[in-house]
Amino acid sequence: MQCWSAQADYAPLAVEKTEGCWIHTVDGRRIFDLRSAHECINLGFNHPKVLAALRAQMETVCYVTDDFATAPTAALAERLSELTPGSPEKKVYFCQSGAAAVEAAIKAARLYQYNRVFHDGGVVDAPSQYPYPYKIISRYQSWHGSSSGAASASGDPRRWFQEPLTVPGVVLAPGANPYRPHFPTVEAHLDYLDHLIEQEGGRNKVAAFLLEPIVGSNGIILPPDGYLEGVRRLCDRWDLLLIVDETMTGMGRTGKFLAIEHWEVEPDIIIMGKALGAYCPLAATILSEKVARSFDHHLFGHGQSYSGHALACAGALASIDVLVSDGLLEEGAVKGQQLGEHLKALGEQHPCVGDVRGLGLFWTMELVGDLETKKPLRKTTEKYEKTIVKEVSDFLFHERNVYVPSDKFGLWVVPPLIIDEDEMAFVLEALEAALVLADRLIAKRD
Ligand SMILES: Cc1ncc(COP(=O)(O)O)c(C=O)c1O
Repeated sequence: MQCWSAQADYAPLAVEKTEGCWIHTVDGRRIFDLRSAHECINLGFNHPKVLAALRAQMETVCYVTDDFATAPTAALAERLSELTPGSPEKKVYFCQSGAAAVEAAIKAARLYQYNRVFHDGGVVDAPSQYPYPYKIISRYQSWHGSSSGAASASGDPRRWFQEPLTVPGVVLAPGANPYRPHFPTVEAHLDYLDHLIEQEGGRNKVAAFLLEPIVGSNGIILPPDGYLEGVRRLCDRWDLLLIVDETMTGMGRTGKFLAIEHWEVEPDIIIMGKALGAYCPLAATILSEKVARSFDHHLFGHGQSYSGHALACAGALASIDVLVSDGLLEEGAVKGQQLGEHLKALGEQHPCVGDVRGLGLFWTMELVGDLETKKPLRKTTEKYEKTIVKEVSDFLFHERNVYVPSDKFGLWVVPPLIIDEDEMAFVLEALEAALVLADRLIAKRD
């Protein structure tokens, strides 16, 4: 089964091997992966240091239950606790997918609030059948995964597949998109959020605010200045936990280890996944000291098999070493800046490009039907298959050997951090040809 697809036409290309930024197919094609394998291979394919770490770990222990300790699992928890914002006295829950880490984060937030109210002297002054704060505020234009709870806490239309059987207790707030703002100022947006939290019951009813610091699959959207700091202030004012989902943006994707480090904001819970695992499925729910303490003497009522998988953790540790100790993080930031400048210059030459935005090696060129009105090429409620963006991404794949998602908003430019100068030139030339095609298709349509 192919994810999110009707199956009749599913015809994946057979792969012979992967190497660096490239996928080699059995029929002799060499394809550049401009989406970094769903953002899972920030280090490129088959990085020798990660492979060596995996091989070495395989010789000793791959997995034992959490009644036992292994060196890579303990070391990774420690490394993540130190590298992420806030006191290093954190605790880390390991699982195998972003969605599972989101589920764990939501449950941890609700249990934290339960403990705060019933065990730690907190007072809920509104009588209720559900007498502790449980609501999660998430946002439209967000994606947190396809399991029931994570999909229910997502604003993306993929949530509709879950409806009406969504998991209760989620409130969706407007997204924050500087290109298509819903409010005249950030202050007005934050005022509305304050009102929303109050109307949802404030500290009596709301447990947490969940957000992607830079929105990923809903269009690589950077928040406006002051927004994230403002949300943090609201969380403090109302005793909510701030959960930051870095599944896509972590592991150096945006030029820092985590995207949230671009702002002076300390989350209460951090979710990581995708590239954390470095070729093995691995995700993490990182609890700040305040939240972790809550479970010192009260049950963390959650778990799954394969939690803390030693082999996956060894790969992640090696991967972090390459990022932090070998300097790939800084290198990626520099390359990202260069890429952004090239993309902006390219965007100015093509009327189909409405907005060019990104950070680090995480970029998109949003394509629009009209520059003045910012008319989207496809509205959220319109049929997906035959969009111009799909035609353009098919062109890149079949004619230029560049693999990008057939995104609904525009062209996705998310290369592995190891991309070199020649590869960058190859990608930019292909994108230029794709934009020429997009201009033509839009003009023809109008
Ligand atoms: C921000 C974010 N959170 C969570 C997920 C879910 O991750 P997974 O597909 O590993 O369950 C994704 C996947 O795209 C994501 O982008």
